[in-house]
Amino acid sequence: MFGFKKKNNKQSEIKVDESLRHVAFIMDGNGRWAKKRGMPREYGHKKGAETMKNIVRYCGSIGINCVTVYAFSTENWKRPEKEVNAIMELLGQYIDYLYTVMDKDDIQVHFLGDKGRFPAELKERLEKAEKDSASHHKILNVALNYGGRDEIVHAVNRLIAQGKTEVTEHDIEENLYTAHCPPPDLIVRTAGEIRTSNFLMWQGAYSELYFTDVLWPEFSESDVDLAVKEFYKRTRRFGAVV
Ligand code: IPE
Ligand code: IPE
Ligand code: MG
Repeated sequence: MFGFKKKNNKQSEIKVDESLRHVAFIMDGNGRWAKKRGMPREYGHKKGAETMKNIVRYCGSIGINCVTVYAFSTENWKRPEKEVNAIMELLGQYIDYLYTVMDKDDIQVHFLGDKGRFPAELKERLEKAEKDSASHHKILNVALNYGGRDEIVHAVNRLIAQGKTEVTEHDIEENLYTAHCPPPDLIVRTAGEIRTSNFLMWQGAYSELYFTDVLWPEFSESDVDLAVKEFYKRTRRFGAVV
């Protein structure tokens, strides 16, 4: 069961149950966080990458077995080259970091999105990290060059290539980037925007949505706790009467 207990009289520690298997984060607000400090947007992304490490670790520690983070969308290429380059550099550093934690934290990483847009060397590193972590059990999906529309088109094209002339929901699901995991039970978006920005369009059909004004670089363990507590107040009906 889901429950809280006080740990060292400091922070409440939440444990989740099987009704919350997958949490997805739209990590928004890095740029605004940096701007507030008179710093370049790239500084916000650097801090945001640290937050991501901490939040993924924390989610694992409270029993969330699948975490997805939206790191770079198919639309984010529209940003200034300097910013895109800085994010790509952080991505390279993040792959190195993953190797330092994937064994101890039992992380099985998947990069959701079209890897074909990345330079060949980076694409190979992404694929290698997926392969090297494949025997682990806690799923971490990092959405990169990810777009929900692009994902559905990609799935349909795969089905056409298999010779299908008619498809089912199950066929589509099996060909999404997330075929290895359940749909998100909870989608959290930081930084105040009330939209999903092309994230998990198919999989999010029945996700609970949680929006907070907290900017991603400032998002903390206690903010995860608040989102989880809110999730447990919701009644999920999936269209039925309960
Ligand atoms: C999220 O923060 C990170 C990415 C989209 C790559 P933003 O960079 O969108 O930050 P804001 O929304 O401009 O504050
Ligand atoms: C969504 O944030 C994408 C990521 C968090 C990677 P954006 O900042 O790109 O979304 P919009 O432009 O505000 O919709
Ligand atoms: Mg944004």
